[in-house]
Amino acid sequence: MSLQAGAGKSVFITGASSGLGRQMAIEFSRRGYRLALTARRLDALKALQAELEKEGADPVFVAALDVTDDASVAQVFANARAQLGALDIVVANAGIGHHGAIGKLPFAKVRDIINTNVIGFMATVEAAMHCFREQGHGHLVGISSVAAFRGMPGGGAYGASKAAVSTYLESLRAETHNSPILVTTLSPGFIDTPINRAAKSRPFVTPVEKGGKLLVDLIERKVERATVPRWPWAVVARLMAVLPTGVIAKLR
Ligand SMILES: NC(=O)c1ccc[n+]([C@@H]2O[C@H](COP(=O)([O-])OP(=O)(O)OC[C@H]3O[C@@H](n4cnc5c(N)ncnc54)[C@H](OP(=O)(O)O)[C@@H]3O)[C@@H](O)[C@H]2O)c1
Repeated sequence: MSLQAGAGKSVFITGASSGLGRQMAIEFSRRGYRLALTARRLDALKALQAELEKEGADPVFVAALDVTDDASVAQVFANARAQLGALDIVVANAGIGHHGAIGKLPFAKVRDIINTNVIGFMATVEAAMHCFREQGHGHLVGISSVAAFRGMPGGGAYGASKAAVSTYLESLRAETHNSPILVTTLSPGFIDTPINRAAKSRPFVTPVEKGGKLLVDLIERKVERATVPRWPWAVVARLMAVLPTGVIAKLR
């Protein structure tokens, strides 16, 4: 693939201060895309901005953004468009995870997961859709998870939040069918980032550099939906969905 596959195109990413969002930013930048990077930690974004611009990237737009503040989401999209013009790709990536059994995980953490991964995600999609409809085109990418395929013991709130992401994007894909607006749902398995470093087990864990490259490859190919990596997760995730409860219960 040409290093400049994205020349002239712009990408807006939420949760770009760490992990997958940060790695996708690096990968998009190497491929010639112009970037709008957002997260709550502005210092981390500024460090990434300096790193990318030193490597020769076009000026990178950065802004502090908490996706749970929907008025701010709309404002930051407007500011990014003022600097970059059209936003060709929006990656709704910001997300958090907490592990704990239902009724044992403090409810404040359950609320945080839903506020960030569902409400914050929907606020991002909402702002992206206003922007795409005004400019007449756009590509919305949502970062779901293989956790969306089956509720796992200890992962109820997180799995439910990602099932909401996947289902919401199915509606959006149908609503935008045969239009210049594309919708991609990416469902990573375990990719080595801070969100899962404390997990007791991370089957098939993928290094973040490889994960970022796979995510951007799939976005450039404009796939509708995919697990990341595709293998073995395309099979494992579907198997998880049909395994008997007794088998799933043993994975506690
Ligand atoms: N890594 C995996 O194995 C894996 C697997 C499946 C799905 N995912 C999904 O991939 C996405 C990225 O996760 P990651 O693995 O890269 O984890 P990470 O390294 O912890 O990064 C999470 C990112 O989300 C941002 N964020 C969290 N709350 C936010 C908020 N309220 N507003 C704006 N940004 C917020 C964080 O930035 P600030 O703290 O600076 O705001 C950070 O940049 C998440 O949606 C996650 O659920 C990850």
